[in-house]
Amino acid sequence: MTADSIAGAAYIVAALLFILSLAGLSKHERARAGVIYGIAGMVIALAATIWLTLQGAWGTGHGLTGLVLLVAAVIVGGAIGLWRARVVEMTGMPELIALLHSFVGLAAVLVGWNGHLEAPALSPDLMAVHHAEVFIGVFIGAVTFTGSIVAFLKLSARMKSSPLMLPGKNAINLGALAAFVALTVWYVNDSQLWLLIVVTVLALGLGWHLVASIGGGDMPVVVSMLNSYSGWAAAAAGFLLNNDLLIITGALVGSSGAYLSYIMCKAMNRSFISVIAGGFGITAPAAADVDHGGHREITAQATAEMLTNASSVVITPGYGMAVAQAQYPVAELAHQLRERGVNVRFGIHPVAGRLPGHMNVLLAEAKVPYDIVLEMDEINEDLGGTSVVLVIGANDTVNPASAEDPSSPIAGMPVIRVWEAENVVVFKRSMAAGYAGVQNPLFFRDNSQMLFGDAKQHVEDILRAF
Ligand code: TAP
Repeated sequence: MTADSIAGAAYIVAALLFILSLAGLSKHERARAGVIYGIAGMVIALAATIWLTLQGAWGTGHGLTGLVLLVAAVIVGGAIGLWRARVVEMTGMPELIALLHSFVGLAAVLVGWNGHLEAPALSPDLMAVHHAEVFIGVFIGAVTFTGSIVAFLKLSARMKSSPLMLPGKNAINLGALAAFVALTVWYVNDSQLWLLIVVTVLALGLGWHLVASIGGGDMPVVVSMLNSYSGWAAAAAGFLLNNDLLIITGALVGSSGAYLSYIMCKAMNRSFISVIAGGFGITAPAAADVDHGGHREITAQATAEMLTNASSVVITPGYGMAVAQAQYPVAELAHQLRERGVNVRFGIHPVAGRLPGHMNVLLAEAKVPYDIVLEMDEINEDLGGTSVVLVIGANDTVNPASAEDPSSPIAGMPVIRVWEAENVVVFKRSMAAGYAGVQNPLFFRDNSQMLFGDAKQHVEDILRAF
């Protein structure tokens, strides 16, 4: 058996483990097993790659440089990865993921360029295929690279989250795509270096423009779309490197990312096609400044009294609960209210927080029973008959403007209709807008009261008042 066939067999086992991992992660109960399959697959894939390089170094004596580079890359990459994973806050995960996607994009660009500079000797037909792989790989990689960097800058608030509105933005995107197709045909027939330089610059610009054109409220779909792009970029690199595992893994990431984007688009009432085409905050003009009147404030003591008299309570958490790390006292509050016979449920918006499933993870961590954690569609039906809704650090996901103001940047996005309840108490620190940067008329409704301050602090105050 040759070293190549042993490594090939190991790659197939690793690919199967990755598929099992994805299947496991789709259910709460099997998620832990899914993670273990994923780790096992990655260990096998790395071991097979190291083994192949060692064979090259010892068997032929030619692979020594490869081995040294591999060890250096694993040490540097592993150290940075370990350090970032240890220090990252849960609230900082999305921007970290966006940054990691940019590395995948960059790697695909470098592999593509290498494929041009070190082109293998092939028959003319196969050479045409090779050139197409180089060109497409560089294009997808470069779009992913700059797109992910803009997503990182926006998510970490280093860049404004409002959409960049260049005149003729759709024409720019479509023009860039048409130019890419034409350049690909040209390059396949005549593989000149300057064509590769042009497509790299074009794709870097397109990636930047695609994501810069998307407004804050739509960022979740963009992150999952970039996840998908990074998968296709990896698959393209796999074709160039003739590496089956990279092709399979890239396709898994690409297709699951695309499916997740589709689910999120449905949840947010956005068109999937217009997301892929980049920028769908498009037609909505900036909402006019409307005078919503004054707001009312409430104390933790008064909220505790209101809760004592309630028969049913719905808690809708958002990003602020993650920032305040309020999930433990919130879980305790739910527990104490249930002990007093109050019907307590949680209503979770699909994009509450900064990651898909962000709130579910926090509530599971605080041991809130799954059966009282309901999805938006399940809870919306019941809000009319609810005595009190506690909005804990949520804002965009409970904004009535999405349903009532067609000029709002979040118009059409389904939200949790908390204002239908008898009383609403909003826990936040100020009147500041949420992630999408739009004012929330909920705060000025007659049945709403604001409890200003840190959410964790105030939930603990309520527990003390009990
Ligand atoms: P947001 O609209 O971001 O609102 C969070 C609110 O929490 C803010 O208004 C903030 O108000 C408050 N807050 C922050 N720290 C707090 C603290 N320590 N104590 C109390 N309140 C605090 O959150 P959301 O309702 O969860 O909506 C999510 C938004 O993020 C959506 O626009 C969504 O599209 C976007 N997004 C989601 C994802 C995914 S996949 N979930 C990814 C990226 C972006 P103050 O500053 O006044 O306290």
